[in-house]
Amino acid sequence: MYQPREHFQSGHRFGIEFGGAVLSFERVADVLRRQWPIIAACVGASLALVIVYLATAQPMYTANARIMMDTRQAQVLDKDSNTSSALIDTGYVDSQVEIINSDDLILSVVRRLKLTEDPEFNGSNPGLLSLILGKVMSPFRSGEPASQERIEHAVVEQVQKNLRTERVLTTYVLSLNYRARSPDKAAKIANAIANAYLVGALEAKYQSTKRATEWLQQRSLELSEQATASDRAVQTFKAEHNIVGTSRGLMSEQQLSDLNTQLVQARAATAEAKARLDRITAISDQDVAQSTVTDALNNSVITRLRAQYLDLAAQYADWSKRYGKTHLAAVNLANKMEEIRKNMADELHRIGDAYRSDYEIAKSREASLDKSVKDLVAQAGHTSQAEVKLRDLESAADTYRNLYNNFLEKLQSATQNQSFPLSEARLISTATKPDRKSSPRTVLALVGGLVGGLCLGFGVAFARELLSDVLRTPGEVEDELGVKCLGVLPDIRPSKKAGPSDLSRYVVDHPFSRFAETLRNIKVSIDVARLTREIKVIGIVSSLPKEGKTTVAANFAQLIALTGHRTVLIDGDLHTRSLTRELAPNAKSGLVEALNDPASLGYHVQRSKETGLDFLPSVVASRMVNSADVIGSKAMAELLKVLREHYEYIVIDLAPVMPVADSKAVSFLIDAMVYVIEWGQTTRSALQESVSGSEVLQKKLLGAVLNRANPKMLKRIEAYKGKHHNSYYVEHA
Ligand SMILES: Nc1ncnc2c1ncn2[C@@H]1O[C@H](COP(=O)(O)OP(=O)(O)OP(=O)(O)O)[C@@H](O)[C@H]1O
Ligand SMILES: [Mg+2]
Repeated sequence: MYQPREHFQSGHRFGIEFGGAVLSFERVADVLRRQWPIIAACVGASLALVIVYLATAQPMYTANARIMMDTRQAQVLDKDSNTSSALIDTGYVDSQVEIINSDDLILSVVRRLKLTEDPEFNGSNPGLLSLILGKVMSPFRSGEPASQERIEHAVVEQVQKNLRTERVLTTYVLSLNYRARSPDKAAKIANAIANAYLVGALEAKYQSTKRATEWLQQRSLELSEQATASDRAVQTFKAEHNIVGTSRGLMSEQQLSDLNTQLVQARAATAEAKARLDRITAISDQDVAQSTVTDALNNSVITRLRAQYLDLAAQYADWSKRYGKTHLAAVNLANKMEEIRKNMADELHRIGDAYRSDYEIAKSREASLDKSVKDLVAQAGHTSQAEVKLRDLESAADTYRNLYNNFLEKLQSATQNQSFPLSEARLISTATKPDRKSSPRTVLALVGGLVGGLCLGFGVAFARELLSDVLRTPGEVEDELGVKCLGVLPDIRPSKKAGPSDLSRYVVDHPFSRFAETLRNIKVSIDVARLTREIKVIGIVSSLPKEGKTTVAANFAQLIALTGHRTVLIDGDLHTRSLTRELAPNAKSGLVEALNDPASLGYHVQRSKETGLDFLPSVVASRMVNSADVIGSKAMAELLKVLREHYEYIVIDLAPVMPVADSKAVSFLIDAMVYVIEWGQTTRSALQESVSGSEVLQKKLLGAVLNRANPKMLKRIEAYKGKHHNSYYVEHA
């Protein structure tokens, strides 16, 4: 739709493409110049809104409390391990923020401060906005009164809304802001929430310590039972396996070595007894009177008997020598000796018996000891197996006991913690009564209103400019059509106090007006163009009806005529013939007749005495269907040929391009076209469509003129020309 001129695209001007249009600095300035009332209105409206808001808004006060988190997380079980000094992570701090905002914590504060009875919270003193909202919403609410729980819940929500908790940068400090309608209340509630959090943290720690203590208690109880049970198992096992601990080791070992010693002794005793028995047996076979026997037997009885025997033997030897062996005395002596010998043999026998019995005893004792040792050795093998098991049991018992002792220690410290829980957070700054309201912030709101208004104004202004399809400046016209804009004709409708005036002869009445001057400018442009080619027939055309072709054509022709040039004005709009109605309402014949008979031309033309302008009207009985054919006919060419000879300027008022074909039909007969565009009315699309519809028309297009510009707006658009720009114009007759 919109096609910028070629030289724009080649970048002769600085600017950015914006929605297909080039947004250059000049353009922005143009827009601002044109649209400043809209911008001002937006700013004014937004400032007014801000002022109304400032006047009606409830002032709020914000109190700030700060809580420092301890960077270490104490742990019940690993109190002295290194992990306890690890830094807390950001997630932990964020969780604390959530805890502070939690329903439970806020509810405790609401209950403690009895906020449900506070008019700020229970709705008995609502703000203006909520009052209006409440009124609007009241038909939709159920009539029954709210329960205490619901009221509390609503208050909690409201407190949460007014509470803002955040971490201060990357520190471990939580900043707690509370806003309320009064500074006192803000500080009170902020502190209450901070304290509730700290107490809550303590309570949580107490609870966790308590739970840990309980667990420890239970666990240590179990452990003590286990330790006792394993101790008991050791004792039972020892009893079952006859294991008794002594200072020199276990009982069985001791017994064994003792028995061994005894056995050795017993064996020695047996051997001795046997030796003695053997000796006695050997002796008893010999003559008892032999000295060897008595010597060997260290026996007093035998020694005595042998001494008696030896005395008797000596006496017998003496007596038998002296008296003979048959002497009675000698025989008596021999008898006595035999008796003693018998006695000695008896005694020997008796000793032998004693020795045998001794030997027997020693032997049986040895056998018994031997058996005992064998038994003990067998038992010892059995006992060592049991010992391995015992060691196991004992070590298990030791482990349990150690564990139990450990747990007891921990339990003790945990119980201490429970009785003195240490908080990990502390209040580093108590909320104090704020001395200034935190909202609404007057300056900020005003600046915001101003900026917002400006933004809105700019937005609206540019939207209007960019979205509007109409043309208002020569620049836009040139961009759109690609031809020169010959001037901007102001709206010349008379003001009410000036009284009615004839617009078709405005240049005659107001020769120094801007309107006349602009038309003169058009004439100059045409004259300049005439230097290179012949321009005599000038068509005044527009896209749509009522854009001002007739007005422009009439005034332009009169202006040229007034300068003394031979000029003819032709009413070429066979459809409306408004020019004829304006200038020669009583005409009986005109263009159509002249076409039929070119020779009679002079008869149809009317000359104005005042301006010297010749006018060829159009008179038709009824609207013609073939007007395009008529006006684009050969006869028309003939007629124009004749006119060219008589006149310097031939101005034709044409029909609009879009609705009827007349202008296109006649365009090949015309030297130059002046395109009338109604200021702020004709759309770009209409313009594009009508111009692109006819190549001849495009070729003949000399320039365009903006008509009916709003003088006030024009002043704004042309402010860059300086305030004296219009001082050369005289608008009044
Ligand atoms: N510059 C102007 N200032 C004030 N009013 C104007 C101006 N130009 C035209 N008019 C008014 O606009 C109306 C239409 O003007 P005019 O008849 O000249 O347009 P037109 O294009 O010839 O229309 P049509 O297509 O019907 O022939 C008229 O009432 C005229 O007075
Ligand atoms: Mg007209």
